[in-house]
Amino acid sequence: MSIEIPEGLTELLQSFTVEVLRKQPEDLLAFALQYFTQLKESQSQGAALSHGTGLPFTHSKGVNFAEEPMQTDSENGDEEEDDEEFVAPVISRFSRRASVCAEAYNPDEEDDETEKRIINPKTDDQRYRLQEACKDILLFKNLDQEQMSQVLDAMFEKLVECGDHIIDQGDDGDNFYVIDRGTYDIYVKVEGVGRCVGCYDNRGSFGELALMYNTPRAATIVATSPGAIWCLDRVTFRRIIVKNNAKKRRMYENFIESLPFLKSLEVSERLKVVDVIDTKTYVDGEQIIAQGDGADSFFIVESGEVKITMKTKSKADVEQNEAVEIARYSRGQYFGELALVTNKPRAASAYAIGGVKCLVMDVQAFERLLGPCMEIMKRNIANYEEQLVALFGTNMDITDPIS
Ligand code: CMP
Ligand code: CMP
Repeated sequence: MSIEIPEGLTELLQSFTVEVLRKQPEDLLAFALQYFTQLKESQSQGAALSHGTGLPFTHSKGVNFAEEPMQTDSENGDEEEDDEEFVAPVISRFSRRASVCAEAYNPDEEDDETEKRIINPKTDDQRYRLQEACKDILLFKNLDQEQMSQVLDAMFEKLVECGDHIIDQGDDGDNFYVIDRGTYDIYVKVEGVGRCVGCYDNRGSFGELALMYNTPRAATIVATSPGAIWCLDRVTFRRIIVKNNAKKRRMYENFIESLPFLKSLEVSERLKVVDVIDTKTYVDGEQIIAQGDGADSFFIVESGEVKITMKTKSKADVEQNEAVEIARYSRGQYFGELALVTNKPRAASAYAIGGVKCLVMDVQAFERLLGPCMEIMKRNIANYEEQLVALFGTNMDITDPIS
């Protein structure tokens, strides 16, 4: 005889058990009555809200993704900051929103309903690994201490198997993910055919786009090894990260708007550039990139001057190991695109002259966002050739793979 377990029963009882264990109520029955009444009320509110704000109250469509381990689930005690006895739990963290409309990005208009703090308790080991994984995550960079601790509290761990689809292109966005360990391929469908456009190797993050812009998932992410990821729910992501990112937009949008080499981008695309840029500062004489190194980022000078030097291949220079200055860049100019376009090592080195501040974009964002600017960049690359011929009598082979 087979017994059918109703959908949601396990999660419902797990969440209830967690609350009982956390609160240790004296009168279990009264507590249960209050718990389920409040859960029902918040679900009805959630159903109403999910049309406007997309709270994740609907149940999962079933990603090819192992359900969260019981232990982590049982740690999902939502912590209240207000006077409520408890916050009714979200039934499934991998649930999807019923619908997503392409609403305009306006973080300042987020609903106060979403101001609920979520706490997923962690072991010391989990907390340590989480902190390590989040150290270099761009979207977390400008959070203040309180915001960061709210984000870390809300994150929960998910173990993945090789072949698991963490995200499927076209789906609604439920979580933002930070990699703890493991490798992951990125597939983007072009005319219906999925093409692998890159991978993550034991570090990095993904899944921010659908949450930031309220768009369907733009790529499929598949685990290519067993691993673990940290998940941040959509509501907390929008409440803290998206709101915080609005400050960055205000700070950089005029500068990005003014850059001639980005003029082929639509206004909305230029704002997305602001969203992905990191900033780095360098002291006088510091090396920014080294000729011959592998490349994973693109630079725009925000302030100061950058000197580009190249070691020539001519016999005399190799003996003296001499680097020759070939260019200087200042505010609004860019460098470091060549290796990303050609998929070759860095063709030259870059050094700060005085204090320098650069906007830095990683290769994934460069490829995703700057496609429309490629014509302008390639025209410049053609100039490098002339410049090198003038300097060295040879083009040093830098543009071979592009044509
Ligand atoms: P999102 O659209 O929410 O879900 C898929 C994620 O894949 C996306 O956010 C990005 O974080 C990540 N990604 C990495 N490379 C690309 C790419 N070339 N195009 C789109 N998304 C990408
Ligand atoms: P990349 O090869 O990624 O790193 C070194 C950068 O120096 C290169 O990209 C260009 O942006 C920049 N550069 C400036 N002038 C030249 C040149 N003549 N040849 C090659 N790179 C140049």
